[in-house]
Amino acid sequence: MIDVFPILRRLLHALPAETAHRVTVRALAMGIAPFARATSRPSLATSVRGLAFPNPIGLAAGFDKNAEAFAASTALGFGFVEVGTVTPRPQLGNPRPRLFRLPEDGAVINRMGFNNDGLDAVATRLARRSVPGIVGANLGRNKDSADAIADYVAGFDRLYGLADYLTINVSSPNTPGLRDLQARERLAPLLGALAGARAKRREGHRPILLKIAPDLLGDEACAIAELALDHGIDGLIIGNTTTARPVTLRGRHRGEAGGLSGRPLFEPSTRLLAAVYRGLAGRLPLIGVGGIGDAEDAYEKIRAGASLVQLYTALVYQGPGLLARILDGLAARLAADGLTTIGQAVGRDAARFGAENPKEGR
Ligand SMILES: Cc1cc2nc3c(=O)[nH]c(=O)nc-3n(C[C@H](O)[C@H](O)[C@H](O)COP(=O)(O)O)c2cc1C
Repeated sequence: MIDVFPILRRLLHALPAETAHRVTVRALAMGIAPFARATSRPSLATSVRGLAFPNPIGLAAGFDKNAEAFAASTALGFGFVEVGTVTPRPQLGNPRPRLFRLPEDGAVINRMGFNNDGLDAVATRLARRSVPGIVGANLGRNKDSADAIADYVAGFDRLYGLADYLTINVSSPNTPGLRDLQARERLAPLLGALAGARAKRREGHRPILLKIAPDLLGDEACAIAELALDHGIDGLIIGNTTTARPVTLRGRHRGEAGGLSGRPLFEPSTRLLAAVYRGLAGRLPLIGVGGIGDAEDAYEKIRAGASLVQLYTALVYQGPGLLARILDGLAARLAADGLTTIGQAVGRDAARFGAENPKEGR
């Protein structure tokens, strides 16, 4: 099938970014997806914390905040899809405009602020799940909530039986104070409460992942990883959008407030990933996110230490045809390196990604 996205992109990018996103999600939800399905190869299949992934490329949180299009996204060939961030109660998020394209940089800035339909709506949609495929749920807190821990536990209890894994998002820059939950004295009680909530469940063990900011120093992220291990957390997602603004940015929206994602995030987020991989010596699975735009990027993240990867922003510029290119390229690179499974590549080059401070070079 020819890739129709270049034509569609002209239409979509003529619209405000948020409208284009809404149109895309609605079209996917309605089954309008004139794209070929990307096929996974046997060498790309991988198992992490008891979940069997057909391939290691996931759709990152924020694209399908309300669990409307996870079936269509899975059908496109993603190895897994993360819905959310969902908060206990529905909320509108920040005033518009709040989503900006930086095409010259292959980047996006967003300050959506957890606009979402709330747990009830998302739980209802996930409960109707009928197609196979791994779907994770990303949990957040309401902006006006007085008790962050209660919010995360509410999300956890509500979606535990409905999602294949749960992600605790303490790293979005657009909810005031959210990133403060990464501090040890705030994080320990949160992780303890979640471990307690999981211990009460009868469904069996579902993985809990923690999503952190790419703006942490390597040592800070390693300390968080150790704390996560102490509390039985199953993996770390590295990471969310960045509040940094590299001097190289050219897009006219580069001065907008919010989180930056896409190509400029690749290097710092990969360096942080490698630093945590080295610090943890493989004791905790890592999910690498930030700036993946082609097979080489995905392979680099994996060699830097990621057992799985996720992407979002590159879809805005390349459309879902990107997925087939990544899967084909990844399988070819593995074969060229004489490897038969993705797992063999994980962390192979973690040393090469340098021990330097991830804040350097911005
Ligand atoms: C418009 C937009 C909305 C996002 N919303 C969320 C969100 O609700 N929760 C979350 O954990 N991450 C969210 N993210 C961050 C992505 O999941 C991902 O971590 C980040 O964009 C880096 O990956 P990328 O460079 O491939 O886009 C959002 C990103 C974008 C661009």
